[in-house]
Amino acid sequence: MEINYDSILFRKLVKSIQIFYQMKKLYILFWFVVFACFNSYGQNLKGGGEKYPDLHTNESSLQYWRALRFGMFVHWGPVSLKGTEIGWSRGNPVPFEEYDNLYKKFDPENFNAAEWVGLMKDAGMKYLIFVSKHHDGFVMWDTKTTDYNIMSTPYGRDVLMDLSMECEKQGILFGTYYSICDWRHPDYPVEHNNPQRRENANMDNYIKYMKAQLKELVETYHTKILWFDGEWEEPWTHEMGMDLYKYVRSLDDEILINNRVDKGRQGMEGVSLSDKFAGDFATPEQQVGRFDLLTPWESCITICQQWAWKPNDKMKSTEECLQTLVRTVGGDGNLLFNVGPMPDGIIEDRQADRLREMGAWLKDYGAAIYETKGGPIQPQTWGVSTSRGKKIYLHVLKPVKEIILPNLSGEILGIRSMTDDTEIVFDSGGLGVVIKLPKIKKNVIDYVLELSLK
Ligand code: GLC
Repeated sequence: MEINYDSILFRKLVKSIQIFYQMKKLYILFWFVVFACFNSYGQNLKGGGEKYPDLHTNESSLQYWRALRFGMFVHWGPVSLKGTEIGWSRGNPVPFEEYDNLYKKFDPENFNAAEWVGLMKDAGMKYLIFVSKHHDGFVMWDTKTTDYNIMSTPYGRDVLMDLSMECEKQGILFGTYYSICDWRHPDYPVEHNNPQRRENANMDNYIKYMKAQLKELVETYHTKILWFDGEWEEPWTHEMGMDLYKYVRSLDDEILINNRVDKGRQGMEGVSLSDKFAGDFATPEQQVGRFDLLTPWESCITICQQWAWKPNDKMKSTEECLQTLVRTVGGDGNLLFNVGPMPDGIIEDRQADRLREMGAWLKDYGAAIYETKGGPIQPQTWGVSTSRGKKIYLHVLKPVKEIILPNLSGEILGIRSMTDDTEIVFDSGGLGVVIKLPKIKKNVIDYVLELSLK
């Protein structure tokens, strides 16, 4: 059949196809707007909560930390000898008596702080949160407050001091995790895996004990972040949370404190109920937080399944690890990525290798991650965006042929594929910006486009 390209019918056909595509674009743009309105939620955490309305988050510490975007979380202790979960396995499956005596065999003779911190640097991580005391109450530093600490192990060396000094030396921001609940301490009223309440427990005494420990962490170890946890239990109250926040800030006004110091956290999404609650940032757990430009947040996620070391624990793929980082930053959050070192003090080779793979990727694409903000475009089915100054980075995590963006606030001067190092064709006339993508190779984890704005 011969086609008459000038025929009315043919022109009508072309016109309707064009309208269809315009409608499709309009439809996509419509959803951009809807997402923009509803997807950005949450509260601006401000610091001291309703009791101390004038005690604001230290803004310069906050800015500094947010720009780092990627940190290492370390869950470690005598429990690694069993390979079960830290804190939670005390009493079940590890009997209380056995768990509480593990420290007598804890001798991580291959621990080397310089190697750990060197690995963080190779991985492109910029800060550390080390578990200084978990729910099991074992203290990982040379404390004056109890003998149940690292100095009573056969190893007998202050690992926290080694880490603090090494971080300082290698330029890594040093922070500590500290559990509010302490299931072993006689003054803390409840114990996981044991329905019996401690009759003679005394919260006032327990708070004094905590404050003495926190003073050591701040004044002797110079922790710059206090990452609280275990706040959900009944003996801990909103009032106590706000007071503890204030106490820590009185020791060092530059410290950042997560929202788990108080009672406002909403489950695993980690966002606080309102700014009545104390805390400087929100803490989504084992999930990427929601796009939120108002509330500072950090997702804590494990490289394997368990927080503490577990033999042959299932490990995440390189793709999952990197895409988790990219999605987190695209939502305007930080990623605190957890490893569990082995009982001898070594971080498993396969975990270390995975981290180095992340670091190698960050060497090439760090400009699209560090010191960026999430957005301005909401997370999409194809991926996320980040931005810094006059640059916008599009992270294409699922290959598509074309990306349509709403009109941006600045004129686009050019688009470069960081992945292929080529210029990318785009059309910014009309409704929005249409970017045609070349065929993306299968093994590309994140196809990164750099948009330069006027
Ligand atoms: C949970 C767990 C704890 C872990 C923490 C890290 O609160 O209770 O074991 O340390 O998450 O976010």
